[in-house]
Amino acid sequence: MSKTILVTGGAGFIGSNYCRYVLQHHPDYRVIVLDALTYAGNLSTLADIQQSVDRTDRFRFYPGRIQDETVVNGLLRSERVDYIVNCAAESHNDRSLLEPGSFIQTDVYGVFILLDAAKRHGIERILHVSTDEVYGTADTGRFTEQSPLAPNTPYAASKAGGELQARAHRVAYGTPVLVTRCGNNFGPYQYPEKLLPFFITRLIDRKKVPLYGTGEQVRDWIFVMDHCSGIDFVLHHGTPGEVYNIGADCERTNLEVTHRLLQLLDRPETLIRPIPDPRGAAHDRRYSVDASRLRSLGWRPTHPFDTALEQTVRWYVEHQTWWREIVARPDYQAFLQRFYGPYLGEDL
Ligand code: NAD
Ligand code: TYD
Repeated sequence: MSKTILVTGGAGFIGSNYCRYVLQHHPDYRVIVLDALTYAGNLSTLADIQQSVDRTDRFRFYPGRIQDETVVNGLLRSERVDYIVNCAAESHNDRSLLEPGSFIQTDVYGVFILLDAAKRHGIERILHVSTDEVYGTADTGRFTEQSPLAPNTPYAASKAGGELQARAHRVAYGTPVLVTRCGNNFGPYQYPEKLLPFFITRLIDRKKVPLYGTGEQVRDWIFVMDHCSGIDFVLHHGTPGEVYNIGADCERTNLEVTHRLLQLLDRPETLIRPIPDPRGAAHDRRYSVDASRLRSLGWRPTHPFDTALEQTVRWYVEHQTWWREIVARPDYQAFLQRFYGPYLGEDL
């Protein structure tokens, strides 16, 4: 049956890939994007979609912030929306350590505004995309949906705050909200500030890559399209009020991942620059997502890490216009200077 999905944050990394996923896998669905186009949101990220749905009414873009009640309610009054998938967020840990205020605005207050609007307009389901970082660090064992929330950065704490708004909305008002918690994503269209796209784009240019501390922290990686299929699975088959982990059982240390990038791009080890850990005590040592609950319902990741990483590196090599335009912006360069300048100096 035909549905209309509002994807908030659809001009970002996961949101845009989720739009691609929906348009490809549900030929009768419409997708509407609401995005504030912050530093991390780009219309160029949606250009391929705009072209492919040209002359159809399957895709529409609205500029605006999720915490703007007037904009959100106006959109839901003028468009017939069945589902909301919230991918809008401030999403970078390092930035949250410098300036946490916008994280609380978007990741907590913005979620509340969306939940309230979903209730008011009788939205069938609202899925809130969250992160395994709400669990804090997994020194032993794996995160299950029952693990306690113990966030360690302003970003992770804001995401936990948004989730708690979702939980309370379900309990207090019966709002049909579902929550997903996923591990570290990688793939096309990721803003070049997170580990993988940052290192890939720098290594393409034979620049040094700043590895925090000894690089022995562990992240649980998943290809973005597997995350998107997980979101879509939960949206259609999950139970409102429930939380679902999404993961691909792929733990790697940062050093391992960096070595793999050097291999794939044929670059020397001397390009690794270990730096004093800028996250300090807030740097989670290990993430490990147990997604057996979702697997038991029938969902599976289908992209093995090694091939997906190779494919991702190739994408950045072949789509230099997309990321070079971002990297050349004054705000991008100012962030690099502020955050990495003290460590990389002339190698920046
Ligand atoms: P991103 O930073 O690439 O994109 C965020 C998008 O949201 C951008 O397009 C931005 O313009 C938009 N946005 C920001 N504030 C907004 C606001 N107030 N109103 C409307 N739009 C706004 O982030 P991402 O990596 O795509 O992450 C999306 C979601 O997935 C986040 O909630 C994040 O916590 C979660 N997540 C990300 C990862 C990961 O590895 N990237 C892993 C697990 C969960
Ligand atoms: P990141 O991609 O920022 O994701 P998250 O903080 O959500 O896990 O970082 C992934 C890991 O890579 C994390 O342990 C910090 C490390 N890292 C570096 O060593 N150097 C870098 O320049 C960046 C951005 C991250």
